Amino acid sequence: MTLTKWWAVTAAAFTITSAVVPAYAADIAAGRKRAEVCMACHGEQGKSQIPGVPNLAGQDRDYVASALKAYRAGTERTNPTMAEMAKPLSDADIDNLAAFWNSLSPAATAQK
Ligand code: HEC
Repeated sequence: MTLTKWWAVTAAAFTITSAVVPAYAADIAAGRKRAEVCMACHGEQGKSQIPGVPNLAGQDRDYVASALKAYRAGTERTNPTMAEMAKPLSDADIDNLAAFWNSLSPAATAQK
């Protein structure tokens, strides 16, 4: 194999690998950005100050993701506020949001 061909094959393999890997990794920083709109109710650190609004800090990732999908679908969960919040979220937004809220320390949610 010539050096040029070797380089072409290596570069192609690298392109495939780097295109596939990030698609599976939830992005906490992107989740934090997307969560700005949620913080008015759920609190900046995931500790709600509003009666009737649950804490999200440290909450199980799969639980948060499936809750958001249920609000978006409007079948198992029909809360009007959260339905409105979940409607515009993509699956990637939901994965990132779930990773972000899960990453916050649940200790911050200890009730006063
Ligand atoms: C206007 C206030 C408000 C905003 C903004 C808001 N939420 Fe909520 N959220 C609520 C209320 C109220 C509930 C409880 C709804 C219920 O009883 O099902 C809730 C419930 C949830 C739950 C379910 C928690 C559990 O323990 O079952 C999740 C997850 C959630 N919200 C995520 C989010 C995310 C992510 C955003 C931002 C995209 C957001 N919320 C924005 C008020 C809000």
